[in-house]
Amino acid sequence: MDSDYSLNTLFNLEGKTALITGGSSGLGLIMAKALIQNGVRVVISSRSQEKCGLALSALQKFGDCTAITANVTSGEDRRRLLEEVERHFGGLSILVNNAGANWGAPLANYPDEGFEKVISTNLNAVFSLTRESVPLLKKSASAENPSRIVNIGSMDGLHVPVVQRVPTFAYSASKAALHHLTRALAVELGPQCITVNAVAPGFFESRMTDYIFEHYLKDIEADCPLRRIGQEEEIAGVIIYLVSRAGNYTNGAVIPVDGGTSVSKGAKPWDEG
Ligand SMILES: NC(=O)c1ccc[n+]([C@@H]2O[C@H](COP(=O)([O-])OP(=O)(O)OC[C@H]3O[C@@H](n4cnc5c(N)ncnc54)[C@H](OP(=O)(O)O)[C@@H]3O)[C@@H](O)[C@H]2O)c1
Repeated sequence: MDSDYSLNTLFNLEGKTALITGGSSGLGLIMAKALIQNGVRVVISSRSQEKCGLALSALQKFGDCTAITANVTSGEDRRRLLEEVERHFGGLSILVNNAGANWGAPLANYPDEGFEKVISTNLNAVFSLTRESVPLLKKSASAENPSRIVNIGSMDGLHVPVVQRVPTFAYSASKAALHHLTRALAVELGPQCITVNAVAPGFFESRMTDYIFEHYLKDIEADCPLRRIGQEEEIAGVIIYLVSRAGNYTNGAVIPVDGGTSVSKGAKPWDEG
């Protein structure tokens, strides 16, 4: 009974460093703020210089943040990004693979280039950036304090999404594959003191969900057992847990943060008929 279970010890993130891809908006921006507010030095990256600049000015008032413009699907950009991260931090304790893309179209018109774009952003680029980040993650890793990789998957990789009525074949396939890649990498990298987990969010407000919420918000809320979309702090909480001491032994997990939507299959409680 000598262990210290105080929140300050269990969730203390001081001294850690993080790279968050797609950190310039939406869930990436929320996770960046959550980590920075808790003492993590963070690099955010995305393709748009303008979005990176706006995010940087919003985040810098909370602590240590740097923004680097990079396209995760470009090998040259990833090399430059990791060189910058190494120059800034020496090593890297947290990699959040969050950058993502979607494409919705009926099957008959679903273009190959749309399918390829989604798979290359949501899956191929995550694999490449992870492989290329391992040397930096190893530098910061120890058995007592493993380095972390957190992949942002989706509840759409856990079930077949129908509520928005716009088929997103590549998206759900890419996220299901990302969840399984997470498990394979957890087995591979665990012995090197790097944990690999995925978060599978339900619906949260972002640029990606603007159109869907405009047209289908009521159906989305009705489809969720909690009858609502997710709130910012519910993403902040799960990332803090996964990269904290409390999360040291969680490895190979895919954690749904979706109010139970992916397990409900549209089911209603008995008394609602
Ligand atoms: N919002 C939700 O309800 C929800 C639910 C489940 C899962 N997710 C996942 O959460 C992650 C973030 O999405 P979001 O909802 O926050 O949408 P978002 O606001 O559109 O954010 C996507 C981010 O990724 C960046 N990005 C896109 N393609 C990129 C590329 N090739 N290289 C580098 N950065 C790129 C975007 O910035 P640039 O345009 O500047 O590149 C942006 O910062 C995605 O993986 C998404 O699948 C979201």
